[in-house]
Amino acid sequence: MTATIIDGKAIAKRIKDEIAEEIKVRNQFGMPAPGLATVLVGDDPASQIYLRNKIRTCEQLGIRSFSYTLPADAEQAELEQLIRTLNENPEIHGILVQLPLPPQIDEYQILSLIAPQKDVDGFHPINAGMLSRKESDPWFIPCTPSGILILVQSIVSDIAGKEVVVIGRSSIVGMPTAQLLCRNNATVTICHRQTQELPKICRRADILVVAVGNSRMVKSSWVKPGAVVIDVGINRIPDPADPSKTILTGDTDFDEIVNVASAITPVPGGVGPMTIAILMRNTLAAARREKPL
Ligand code: GUN
Repeated sequence: MTATIIDGKAIAKRIKDEIAEEIKVRNQFGMPAPGLATVLVGDDPASQIYLRNKIRTCEQLGIRSFSYTLPADAEQAELEQLIRTLNENPEIHGILVQLPLPPQIDEYQILSLIAPQKDVDGFHPINAGMLSRKESDPWFIPCTPSGILILVQSIVSDIAGKEVVVIGRSSIVGMPTAQLLCRNNATVTICHRQTQELPKICRRADILVVAVGNSRMVKSSWVKPGAVVIDVGINRIPDPADPSKTILTGDTDFDEIVNVASAITPVPGGVGPMTIAILMRNTLAAARREKPL
């Protein structure tokens, strides 16, 4: 069997085209452009690249971006003051604080300060809590998990009753992905560093989501034939063909697994583009809630 390669780039493009179209119509009705504030603390190169992509996509779709950078040694109070100002600014509909934050900053405190209606990352404890309860709908659901659900549904239209295994329990990806898929009635197992017999548990999965940040950790022998594999990893490693260069790899051994799975996301071009598209969708949703068309 050769797996279907799930084209996250193409699916993300369709979502972005729809967003651009809606923003154009809103403009024609004299409505202000959605506004996204991005906050970076420090100069981590990976975070800079991620943010540059987000800001460029805003420009392409007609979303105004407001970008703020604080020095790596910024104090908690300075960042808190910035968040308060952004909460009050009516031109800003969404606020994104790029993670991770430097060690002197209390990340939970910062995320808790973002107005839940502007929390386009879905990381505020109110939004995270509402995601965990079936009877409540959060203002926003985190971007990568939302993108993963769309990618899975492009292959399996109804995931109710499917066996899902999520490797990784981060607050950004693993945990909210497990909660979101569970809300959609999948049977979900969450695995992490302390999990015993990880390969055996993975082999149960109809849908395997891997978000560990460990290059090519998941081997084909861990994958049930016909499973759908979602690889969230983005790892930069030396290029075996030319060690002076680097290549991007996922958390799964794509070349092996492509012969076992029924579908798999590539790295790059799978989950990554979806995260940005959903961030744009959440920002438009924030503007739409404030001023419906
Ligand atoms: N760092 C890695 N992924 C993300 C994300 O989705 N949002 C934010 N704010 N920071 C991140």
